[in-house]
Formats: sequence, C-alpha cells, structure tokens
Amino acid sequence: MSNHSAAGTFEKVPTLIFSSSGEAASVLAAEVAALIRTKNEAGKNAVLGLATGSSPVPFYRELIRLHREEGLSFAKVITFNLDEYYGLPSDHPESYACFMREQLFDHIDIPASNINIPSGTVSSDQVFSHCRDYESKIDSVGGIDLQILGIGRTGHIGFNEPGSSRDSLTRRITLDRVTRQDAASDFRGEENVPRFAITMGVGTILRARKLALMAWGENKAEVVARAIEGAVTEAVSASFLQEHGDARFFIDEGAASELTKIKLPWLVGPVSWTPRETRRAVVWQSFKAKRPVLKLTDEDYNEFGLSDLLSEQGPAYQLNIRIFNQLQHTISGWPGGKPDADDTYRPERARPYPKRALVFSPEPQDAIVGMGGTLDRLVEQGHEVRLVSMTSGSLRVADSEADKFASTLLELASNADDPSAWRRQTEYAREVLRILEEKGEFGEDPALLRHLKGLVLRGELRDAGHALGIPAEQVVILDLPFYEKGRYRRFQVTDEDVKGVTQLLRDFKPHQIYATGDAADPSSVSALCFRLIGAALKACEGEDWASACNLWLYRGKEKPMEPHEIDMAVPMSPVQLERKSRALSRYAALSSLESSASEANRQNARHYDALGMAEYEAIESFHRWKRA
Ligand code: F6R
Repeated sequence: MSNHSAAGTFEKVPTLIFSSSGEAASVLAAEVAALIRTKNEAGKNAVLGLATGSSPVPFYRELIRLHREEGLSFAKVITFNLDEYYGLPSDHPESYACFMREQLFDHIDIPASNINIPSGTVSSDQVFSHCRDYESKIDSVGGIDLQILGIGRTGHIGFNEPGSSRDSLTRRITLDRVTRQDAASDFRGEENVPRFAITMGVGTILRARKLALMAWGENKAEVVARAIEGAVTEAVSASFLQEHGDARFFIDEGAASELTKIKLPWLVGPVSWTPRETRRAVVWQSFKAKRPVLKLTDEDYNEFGLSDLLSEQGPAYQLNIRIFNQLQHTISGWPGGKPDADDTYRPERARPYPKRALVFSPEPQDAIVGMGGTLDRLVEQGHEVRLVSMTSGSLRVADSEADKFASTLLELASNADDPSAWRRQTEYAREVLRILEEKGEFGEDPALLRHLKGLVLRGELRDAGHALGIPAEQVVILDLPFYEKGRYRRFQVTDEDVKGVTQLLRDFKPHQIYATGDAADPSSVSALCFRLIGAALKACEGEDWASACNLWLYRGKEKPMEPHEIDMAVPMSPVQLERKSRALSRYAALSSLESSASEANRQNARHYDALGMAEYEAIESFHRWKRA
C-alpha cells in the first residue's frame, strides 16, 4: 500500500492505493472493528453507514470473517444504508435489502431492529415523510460515525446522480442512463432496471463523521481521478468528499490508474525511466502536441515537463526514433507469428507453425468483443484455434429467450403427426413455462432454466465462432461451477474451478493463450476467470508446453488499452471489422460497452495514426502477460 496524499501530488483528498481490493478491505475492516470496539467500550452504539454494489463485497466478507474468527460483535451496531431501488420490495432478489442480508446481515449478530434501509415500496405520497423520517432517525442515534461509499461511473455516491446539490437530503431520484446500463446484467437487460431510487443526499452523507470510499478496477479510474483531483462540482457528487475533513479513498491500482501521479508521474516528481514509462511519456507528449512521434522536438520535451527524460535519453531525434520503432514493432497482422519470417522484431515468434491458440472468454461474448478480428486472422492463417467460454453466461439470458424456445417446442409437438411421440418434449416445455410463470421476472432461475439459458448462449457462441471460421468442435463451454452456483457479485471460486481450467490446459497444451480480466472489477466474472487461469497456469508450472507458452491479454468490455500498454497491435481491414460485427450480432444480449467494440477498435487505429504509424481501419490490441 502506498499513501500519496502528501503535498506535491494533485490529490485533494487522502487516497490510499492498494495492490488488491482484498488488502484494502482488510485495512478498512480492521478500522471498523476498532471503531466498534472503542464505541462499545464507552457504552455507546457504533453507527455505520453502508453501501451496496460490487465495491463493498470484499469488505463485508472481511467483516464476516472478523465476526466468525475474531469475535467481533455487531450487537451494538446500528446501520443505515445509503439507498434502495424504488419499486422493489425488500424480498426482491435485486433489492438492496436482500443484497445486505445475503452479503452481511445474515452472517453477523446485528439485531434486526438496528438495521435501517430506505423502503422501496413506500407509496408515492409517503415518500417525502419517509425520507424526512430517515434523516431524523440518523440524527436521533447521534449521526453516522463512519459512512462506507462506492462510486458509480457517473461519479455518484449513494444514488446522487450528476446535478445533486451539496446540501441535498434523503429523497427519491431518477437514475442516470449510465447507472442503469451498469446495472443491466443484474436485471437481465437495461429495460428492466428500476428508473427511480431513494437515496441519502450528498448533505446527509457529508454529515457522517468519517467517510471511506472504495473503488476497484480500471473502469472506475477516470471518475475516481475526477473526484480526487478535479474541481468540486455537482457534476461528480463524489468530488464533495474533498470538502469533508475526514474522507478517504481506498482504491486499487486499476482504479488509481488515471491519477496524475500514476498516469503522468513526471508532472509530480522524479521518475525512474523504465522502457514502458518512457514510451508512456513520449506517446502522451505526442498526443498533447498533436504531432507524430518523429516530429517531436527538444523544445517539446522541455515544454511538456520531460526535460529530465531528454537529458537522460535524448536528444529528441534519437529518442523519437527509438519509441517510433518500438511502436512500429507492435504492429503485426500475424498474431500467431509469421511462419518463415525473421521474427526478431515481431511480437510473436514464427515457430512452431501452426500454433495451438487457446482463447479464453470469461462469458461467451467476451472474446468476440475483445479479439474477434484476431480470431479471424488466427483461423485464416492456419492455426488451431480453440475458443473456450469459461462460463455458460446463462445469467445474461432474458426469460423471453427461454419462453420462445419452450413455445416453439410446444408448437412443433402439437403440429406433429404423432404428438404422443413428443410427450417428453411437451412435458419439458410445459415445465419451463411453469417455472417462468412461477418465479416472476427477476426470481432466481432454477437449474433447469439456467441449463436451457446456457444452451441458448452456447448456440449463439457457436454461431459467432462459425462467422469467424471456427468449427463447432473447437468451441468449448467449460460451465465452471462457480458461475453455475452463483449470481453476479456473489460468486465464490473453489478448487474445482481451478481443476477444470488446469485440465483444459493440459489437454490442449497451447503455444499461445489469450485471456482477459486483469483490469476488471475484482468481483466481476472476467476478473475471477482471469485469476483462475493464473492459478491453473501455476499448477502447470514447469511442464514443457507451459514454459514455452506465450500469454496475451486483451480487453473485453473494460477500458481499452492505451498505446503505451500495447505489445501487439493487430490491424483489421474494413472487411474484418464487418465480420467481427456480424459475429457480435449473433448475441441477443450485449451491453452498450460490448456493442461499441468496433468503435474502440477504430479508436486504437486513430491513436496509432496520430502517433505517425500507418493508418488502418481498426486495431485490436494485446498486452504481453508476464507471469509472476
Ligand atoms: C450503492 C450505492 C452506489 C454504488 C455505486 C458503485 O449503495 O450507493 O453509489 O456504490 O453505484 O457500484 P459498484 O460498487 O457496484 O460499482
């Protein structure tokens, strides 16, 4: 952990950066435990403000551990949750009341009467008094000692969307489009996400004596930087933390990646100029100066605060050529290596040819989103490509898909010459329709329904693979148990999952592996899958194939790589981009980030063009994954 809140940085609020969310969660949980004990020893209740969502999950797990293993009691703790979806009853599986029970309250000794969560079902004419009472209740117990917060991509804390004033109090609000998109997978589609919520206001939150905001993963990096370094503004409600005397950000390296001291460290202090950092500085400068790398001058280096780099590695002319060549050498239309070509400066080795390329997709759409064009090239260039979806993705599939299948089956049966021969199929279809009816729109899917939904996605993946020339027998769905037994944000991986991946690696013995999830929110499916691949590779350490295997990282729905991070840039022609879009169109349910994959690829190409490289239609980018 590093604490860089000291003067000389751009941070306007104390910020603790940790190497993992687990480490951050333990530090914060230990503080909370100390707070509870101190208050209780003084004969008082501890009053905690709590948040929901992915971010606090590791923190709640640690609190539960402290309760179970170290006797931390919550008997004298009073809690107030930040918010609740308006319209959802407290037994709805996606309500925050339900989330809190599952994630924390059912596992600790807190009395039910000490728990406070805004009601999602209070009638419209009662909303105002309900919110006023919530405020009064907070005051009546002496105010909140410590408020836990997450941050949305709109910069919201609680559900205080852009425009919320500094003095706002508990109230009903309309959720921002981005917030609803982010919740879409929980509700199987954006259209099902509630439009309103009841939330504590910014003013309510700022009244708490201490604030601790947690954020993980690169997708939060931009908004985290705005909240910590930007102006205090209603456009980013988390920026109001700057005005609270005792607020801190607990973030991981991914979420910290847009902070000036990480992104542009030369503006903050002395830098050790590693090759990657040098490339980052030159690329940044080229964008800033709006001139290609080869046209940067000594004066530019001085003007952009890079005189230190210039004196160490200049003059500009030589440094420019070096970086230009490095960037140039990342470009390769031969992701599997070009057979019989000199590979000294190519990202991937020429031999062996053809290669066995193992492409891991956490959910069935991820690899197509992140590297559909590269898959197409690998196949075209004669490599043996195995496309492996680590999970079935069944949780993404809408009920309407299962309904469609069951209804078609019933229709086929009723039109058959001998309907009795279809008896079992008819029973199955009726069972599916009965389950759909019984569980309601957002109820838990029983195994039979999840299985059917998994099959729907299996079909979509096979179709997408087919569009890219991958034969059906090379498309594998691992159906890892952690996914089949869990729900979004609530997954727990076990050894069984690692074994499944290890077995696959040993059977295929790949020369190349493509994976994603290194930059994702740690509780997301892609981050969990990434960790499983790491664990499986560790289990295979020392095996011949494993030592010779190259590992490439791509980005699925996460923030795209920046040019200095790219070790292999695979250009795509307009035709290839079109083929990738066609493959993506096979999926019924794509998030907005996923369906804008082609735009991200075009953006990569524009970046390379601006740096002075050849101008391509689009580029898919990869980072070399160096094993620890
Ligand atoms: C939840 C809440 C929200 C979330 C934020 C981040 O009670 O108030 O502000 O903290 O939307 O959500 P995650 O952690 O899921 O990224």
